[in-house]
Amino acid sequence: MIKYVSTKGGVSPVSFDEAVLGGFAEDGGLFVPQSIPEISSKQLHDWSGLSFTELAFELMSLYIPRSIVPAVDLKTLIEKSYRSFDSPDVVELVPVDEQGRVLVLELFHGPTLSFKDVAMGFLINVLDYILNKRGEHLSIVLATTGDTGPAAAWAAAGKKSLDCWALFPRGMITEEQERQMTTLNADNVHAVGVENCPNGGDDLDAVVAGLFEDLELKRKLKLSSVNSINWCRVMVQSVHYFYGYYRAVETPGESVVFSVPSGAFGNLFGGYLARTMGLPVGKFICANNSNNALHTVLSTGVFTRKELIQTMSSAIDIVVPYNFWRYLYFVSGCNSEQMTLWMDEFQTAGEVTFTSEVQSAIKDGFNSVSVSEAETGATIKRVFNERDGYLLDPHSAVAVSAAVSLKDTIPDQERIICLATAHPAKFPNIIRSCLGAGSELPAGGMHPALTRASKVCQHLRLCKLEHLEFAVVDAMKSRLGIKSDKVH
Ligand SMILES: Cc1ncc(COP(=O)(O)O)c(C=O)c1O
Repeated sequence: MIKYVSTKGGVSPVSFDEAVLGGFAEDGGLFVPQSIPEISSKQLHDWSGLSFTELAFELMSLYIPRSIVPAVDLKTLIEKSYRSFDSPDVVELVPVDEQGRVLVLELFHGPTLSFKDVAMGFLINVLDYILNKRGEHLSIVLATTGDTGPAAAWAAAGKKSLDCWALFPRGMITEEQERQMTTLNADNVHAVGVENCPNGGDDLDAVVAGLFEDLELKRKLKLSSVNSINWCRVMVQSVHYFYGYYRAVETPGESVVFSVPSGAFGNLFGGYLARTMGLPVGKFICANNSNNALHTVLSTGVFTRKELIQTMSSAIDIVVPYNFWRYLYFVSGCNSEQMTLWMDEFQTAGEVTFTSEVQSAIKDGFNSVSVSEAETGATIKRVFNERDGYLLDPHSAVAVSAAVSLKDTIPDQERIICLATAHPAKFPNIIRSCLGAGSELPAGGMHPALTRASKVCQHLRLCKLEHLEFAVVDAMKSRLGIKSDKVH
């Protein structure tokens, strides 16, 4: 039976349900499978005609033992997780150049209009399933740069087995994203707007990681994470690579390139997983905005923490791409001792310089680009003008811009699939300003769910970053009926 280990090697292997319920491993590492399952070329061919949900069933079956989720329950959980998507295919593929070689894979047809819905609904449904079987309750806590929070809040709303605490850097996400989390009318969803976050979501990630380091508190409050720290998220994020691949190629076996707007490397890790399982991917283009920690490590071999720069693609304004550690674990040959040394060095010195051997292993199959604000804006405008008013959100535009800049380096026969990770309606002010001063917002830049959210009351808790840990623990205790700590 497949087991899960920590990238730091400090805990005994655990089963799928323990890895998913735990979120973080107790030694501070991230859960990964002991080995990545591989598919045969027959499976690669046979699966090409499957629907998204059928494909998800085949792929998830490689990671989730039947003894934990029997086949019939897994099918039901998958069906339930994609029922509220507004596309019958779950995701859609749209050409954005004349030749039909550069394609956009729209991953934003879920209820909260970003690619986070693709994996979050399933994760929360699996958590709910396991918790109901055990008769347990969990508090999930997450930090969001604007899209994880809405997806988790929506999926968790009304579930008796869960409370969802979504922390966001106030003023650093759009009003539309804030309203998605604060207008749900569900008493188990708690959006916490955190003021004064110089490093945006990274400041919140650090507080969340701190909560998990206090093992006694973690057990007392029954905490788990649904950020892409949680193995289940990155695992499910491999499905859209397979499905997008099948929709883009003429014959399974052809190679393609994926361009991915990247922040914490969770989506790209899903791609790496798909390729390691056997999906023919020539290269991944890691598309960063000006927060280019990933571009820097992929192009120079130096993994370093830089100052946060606020950009229009705010969901990828990330300083520390924590899922890169998962990738490094496999690049290092599953060497948890080496991982612990690197993670500790990064923690203390804020930087790790890899040897040239490790650097070339890291670069294998990856290209990267750091896209400027001007290029992102120009891409939104160019695609809108050239493709009959087709609108890209700023994150998807980073991916398209990176793909276009590297197009000439990619073999002619390879299609380039750019992941469109959010609906443009989540960023109406940015779209307006990119299309030109005084522009009306085109119809494609609106969405009825957001129009509704703009009109109803918000339920919001507010606190300052310096008090966040105390404030959240205090609020969680009060919710669970546990006595609060004294204030000194
Ligand atoms: C719209 C959007 N695009 C891209 C990303 C980046 O994904 P990841 O952090 O997994 O690299 C995010 C994540 O926050 C997002 O919300």
